[in-house]
Amino acid sequence: MAASPQAAGELIQSAPTAYRVAAAARRAPFGTLAHPLPIIIDSDPGLDDALAIALAVARPELNVLAVTTVGGNAEVRHCTLNALGLLHAYGRSDIPVAEGAAGPVLGEIVRATEVHGETGIGNTRLEPSPVAVQREGAVALMARLLRTHAQPVTIVPIGPLTNIALLLKLHPELAPRIAHLCLMGGSIGEGNATVSGEFNIYADPEAADIVFRSGVPITMIGLDVTHQALLDRDSVVALRALGRASARIAAELTAYALDRNMEWSGSATTAIHDAVAVAHLAIPGLVAVAPYHVAVDITAGPCRGRTVCDGMPRRLARTGRAATTDVGIHIDRARFERLLLDAFSSLP
Ligand code: RIB
Ligand code: CA
Repeated sequence: MAASPQAAGELIQSAPTAYRVAAAARRAPFGTLAHPLPIIIDSDPGLDDALAIALAVARPELNVLAVTTVGGNAEVRHCTLNALGLLHAYGRSDIPVAEGAAGPVLGEIVRATEVHGETGIGNTRLEPSPVAVQREGAVALMARLLRTHAQPVTIVPIGPLTNIALLLKLHPELAPRIAHLCLMGGSIGEGNATVSGEFNIYADPEAADIVFRSGVPITMIGLDVTHQALLDRDSVVALRALGRASARIAAELTAYALDRNMEWSGSATTAIHDAVAVAHLAIPGLVAVAPYHVAVDITAGPCRGRTVCDGMPRRLARTGRAATTDVGIHIDRARFERLLLDAFSSLP
């Protein structure tokens, strides 16, 4: 049952630093069975990326045109092999994979191998894909698809925003062909890579600054909502009980993430951050959003990589800023988990 505008509005009041704003009319486009939404996923697979990609290929409301990879959770070569192997496991090796940037446009390389493992997918070994990575790079593939697809394409960045920033800098004329950027990243409140920065933004703040200033319509699925999108040991049991190869991979990846989280923070759950950005485009009303002005801190200090989210209408008016980004505020955890289990019950 989708949250009513009233309920979503009430939910928004409970969000950190949210102000008396109505739930924004969903600016993100969404797919339907009759008109599946064409999307490109830009990813650093990645434990949660793996479940996000599965959800995307399983949902009939979405049409995944390509997966592009970026260095983030692990070295980009691992991310590319993971993307190829995951699509092969999900029965979708027809979806092209192109490799993108190995590291940020500026600054030090930041990895999350302590969370995702050296190869990005814990101890899981995927069957190698029979299909090779595309010869063209990620930005070239995204540009070609934006240029040639019958309608503007929604891009779903679920890793650092390096490829997206390069796309916008190399091909500014294609910005109008980007229907929407529904990205996992940032936070109204605290970060996770540091107290200020969420990993995808912190790993390349300059790229994020370029993207948030670009004028392309953005939905920011940040930690405020993804920390509600949780799986636990019972979820692992339920995935295994599906008795399907893809679900067993998801169970293994989720169990690995749960082990790391227990080690790191004593938590018995794991947030499937990236899948929320995908779910938002397939299930209208599942994610409540609110309009904010978002700026990225690119200083070298303790706030580097922070997404500074301002949702206070009067302050925005006084300072000539507009709340142009929809920021994720709420998702129903049980509904989200059911969505993932349904997705894996339809994959090989
Ligand atoms: O902060 C969560 C994000 O960082 C997710 O995209 C996860 O895959 C990691 O890359
Ligand atoms: Ca990711």
